[in-house]
Amino acid sequence: MTVKPIRIAPSILSADFACLRDEIDMCRQGGADWIHVDVMDGQFVPNLTFGTKVIDAVRRCTDLPIDVHLMVIHPESYFEDFAHAGATGLTIHAEATVHLQRHLSHIRSLGCRAGVAINPATSLDSVREVTDDIDLLLVMTVNPGFGGQAFIPASIDKIRRARLLLDESRSDADLEVDGGVARDTILQCRRAGADTFVAGNAIFSASRPPAEIGELRAAATELA
Ligand code: DX5
Ligand code: ZN
Repeated sequence: MTVKPIRIAPSILSADFACLRDEIDMCRQGGADWIHVDVMDGQFVPNLTFGTKVIDAVRRCTDLPIDVHLMVIHPESYFEDFAHAGATGLTIHAEATVHLQRHLSHIRSLGCRAGVAINPATSLDSVREVTDDIDLLLVMTVNPGFGGQAFIPASIDKIRRARLLLDESRSDADLEVDGGVARDTILQCRRAGADTFVAGNAIFSASRPPAEIGELRAAATELA
């Protein structure tokens, strides 16, 4: 099984937007590897969040990679703007388009890392034909739309199968998990083969958020 270094990606969905720069500085101080930005359109998911201006603002606050998760229909409408605003990676949902390969290749052509996400009810078969076109596979461990939801336990077996799929396809793509990732769930995800861990509530609701990033990393490394 491929074992890549651990990455922790705080999701600013759970941050205090009244002081976003401080929140992002805190993430860096705590050793965050990426900043995860959740874009929601009120249609693909029942919630509305950020657009280009927020990605641009995050870029002006940090030089950390910005991992943009698009929970939107017609994601292709935003690729150019988000790439120019400073996104490092753009992850689109397999369920949101019938032109997955075209859109992944478009993302790469803009110099961004191309990611594909699948909801808990979506089979890994939906990404089997695009493993050469992705730099990241995101296995959702909650139904997308909101922070602070409970981790879905059946995700562990799916992460394991996702790891196998990437290995069998000789893909070097990162395997990311998102939703309900916390000290008590991260190790199982790591053991199943995930390498990139998004966490919102676990970090921003902690009594010492920067320290919590290290706690998550330690928990995933079996040091906790
Ligand atoms: C949910 C988003 C997540 C969310 C995770 O739809 O994609 O990135 O911020 O939040 P937690 O870690 O609180 O479950
Ligand atoms: Zn997300």
